[in-house]
Formats: sequence, structure tokens, C-alpha cells
Amino acid sequence: MSNDTVNVKRRRFLTAATTLVGTVGAVGAAVPFVGSWNPSAKAKAAGAPVEINISKIEPGQMITVEWRGKPVYVFRRTPEVIAQLSEGEQFLRDPGSDKPQQPEYAKNKTRSINPEIAVLLGLCTHLGCAPSYRPEVGAQDLGGDSWFGGFFCACHGSKFDLAGRVHQGVPAPINLLVPPHKYLSDDIILIGEDQEA
Ligand code: FES
Repeated sequence: MSNDTVNVKRRRFLTAATTLVGTVGAVGAAVPFVGSWNPSAKAKAAGAPVEINISKIEPGQMITVEWRGKPVYVFRRTPEVIAQLSEGEQFLRDPGSDKPQQPEYAKNKTRSINPEIAVLLGLCTHLGCAPSYRPEVGAQDLGGDSWFGGFFCACHGSKFDLAGRVHQGVPAPINLLVPPHKYLSDDIILIGEDQEA
């Protein structure tokens, strides 16, 4: 092969490479906001698990964390709340959580791994509004004697108890979802990964 032939081939290669870079550059310019996301936001959007420390959550207190762009409610139940979960069951649609709205390891009375700590997806199972936390037992605006604390969705009036179980006679058809999660230690929960059996 002569030097001329080699040079022509090399020029063609460089031209093609430049065109490719130009195309990539144009795509990059079309979506500049991608470059401004911080790594954790990118990771969350991609579905990365979220680690949370529950040691500072007081009894009765709830925090909201974001996982895959959705709210996850994490709250600490008092012993009274755990006891009351049995009392209002006649007002619930699926008190035994027979519909698979939770992983197997959370299919129990409290719908959680640790009875004290609830982990629920904060999206109403009717049309996806975020229900508010209403832990006051007997709240008159939520049914008085039939209200043992829980979540109220103001969009169309759905009610859930403090295990995320849906009340009867409301638009939401099923219990709140329990997202996959596991304990890395007594105080650290990883949301987005299943507890091993
Ligand atoms: S979205 Fe909650 S009741 Fe309709």
C-alpha cells in the first residue's frame, strides 16, 4: 500500500470520527439538564436503593423519604398503636393483607419486618395521591369510633390504618404497598432491596 493510499484512508477515518463526535455533541446540547443532575438524583431515578437511619424517629413520628421518585413513609409505632391494629379490623377491607400488596416477609399483622417500624409507599391505591398521616385515635372528621389512626387521602376520601390497610367503603381498592426493604443493622434500613428469606 502506498503512503498516499494510507493518508486517504486515514483522512476518511478522521472525517467519520469527527462527524460522530459532532452528533454526540448535538445530543448532549439538546438535553443540557442531564449534566446538572447530581449523582444521587441520577441514582435514585435509576432505581438505586435508598439507605435511611431510623434511630432518630421518635415513637409516633413519621418521616418521608424518596425512592424512585416516589414518597415512602417510615414511622415508629408505639406499643399502643401496635395493640390497636387488632381493634379496628372490622372496618377494613383486607385486614389479613391477603392481596399481595407487600413482600412475603411483611405479610403479617403489622405488615412490617419490625412491628415498631412501618415502611409504606405513600401513594393512595386509588389514583395515586399522597395520603396524609393522621395518627389521632377517634378523630371525629375521620369516623370517630371507627378511626384508630392512619392515613387519609383528601383527593377522594380513602382511609388506611396505621399498617396501611384500606378501610371499607372508600374508593381505594387495596392496601397501601409495602416497598421492598431490608435491615442492614438495627438502625439502618435499605429501601429498594428485599430482605432475604
Ligand atoms: S387518589 Fe386517594 S382517594 Fe382517590
